[in-house]
Amino acid sequence: MKILVTGCAGFIGYSLCYKLLKNKKNIIFGIDNVNNYYDVELKKNRLKKLKKNKNFFFKKIDICNNSKLSEIFKKNKFHTVVNLAAQAGVRNSIDNPEIYFEYNLIGFFNIIECSRSFKVNHLIYASTSSVYGNATKFPLKENNNTDHPQSFYAATKKCNEVIAYSYSQIYNLKTTGLRFFTVYGPFGRPDMALFKFVEKLSKSKKIDLYNNGNHYRDFTYIDDVIGYVEKLIFLQDSNGKYNIYNICTGKTIYLKNFLNEIIKNLKLKKPKINKLKLQTGDVKKTHGSNKEITKFTNFKPRTNIKEGIKNFINWYADYNK
Ligand SMILES: NC(=O)c1ccc[n+]([C@@H]2O[C@H](COP(=O)([O-])OP(=O)(O)OC[C@H]3O[C@@H](n4cnc5c(N)ncnc54)[C@H](O)[C@@H]3O)[C@@H](O)[C@H]2O)c1
Repeated sequence: MKILVTGCAGFIGYSLCYKLLKNKKNIIFGIDNVNNYYDVELKKNRLKKLKKNKNFFFKKIDICNNSKLSEIFKKNKFHTVVNLAAQAGVRNSIDNPEIYFEYNLIGFFNIIECSRSFKVNHLIYASTSSVYGNATKFPLKENNNTDHPQSFYAATKKCNEVIAYSYSQIYNLKTTGLRFFTVYGPFGRPDMALFKFVEKLSKSKKIDLYNNGNHYRDFTYIDDVIGYVEKLIFLQDSNGKYNIYNICTGKTIYLKNFLNEIIKNLKLKKPKINKLKLQTGDVKKTHGSNKEITKFTNFKPRTNIKEGIKNFINWYADYNK
């Protein structure tokens, strides 16, 4: 199957391409603008691994560049498009909303418009658990209210879902929005808690702990995320034109316990911790229900938090050898 993955140099995009390329029948086109939101070397190293496979074709394209984007859609008849290119990060969106407007709204519009014009069978795109805002009832279900985003990032993702709904209704385009819940694992994102904690603690540096660690997150291991996405790519057309799914484990972890597990793994006696207040845009708790996606895909998350943290720390040590 010919699949386009945008954001293929990113954490989830890379991991998805890597897994899909294990099946020789899949031809994967990857695009990414390789921006410097975080370490570009990390992105280049992910791409280097993907380029070893002859079924992978990379083009450095910005999804905001509609003419280049249309060209690649025109030349290749993509069966499925997975849009993971976006400006991620809740806190950064408070100070830099423009880039979120550009990548997440203009870029997303270009992707959905190309998917419609060039008759893509299925557009799968990244949304986020942040659309639930500061909810009080858990677990979070797909039909909960999502009208009160706490960050501009969440607002852009909510817009993606609404735009996708209109395209599914008007043009009959099959769209699936994925509300990812704190994805973690090897080759992860340096701006996220696990990477930052391990990087700093292993260099005996001080870590910033927001809200004094009184957060709860539904941490979802990368292989489980990819397990769900892969199923969604190949289970075509049996669940209607417009779908939204939570991509989560269905369990919530207290951040202090998460940090203690890291400290235990790194065998640290006295970690240096800088306790900070709750940051604007941050929600206190995420805990999703994965009932809908599990029912549809028959896939269940397999990696528990202890294993996941250990795998990340092993990868980090190996990567920095
Ligand atoms: N990782 C998570 O926990 C998480 C949680 C919720 C939602 N998401 C969403 O999932 C998607 C993937 O996230 P990720 O963690 O892999 O992030 P990432 O930043 O590692 O990956 C995004 C990739 O997209 C590329 N990109 C950004 N803007 C682009 C543009 N305009 N044109 C082309 N390429 C562009 C970046 O260079 C990057 O390589 C994003 O949409 C993100 O908002 C991620």
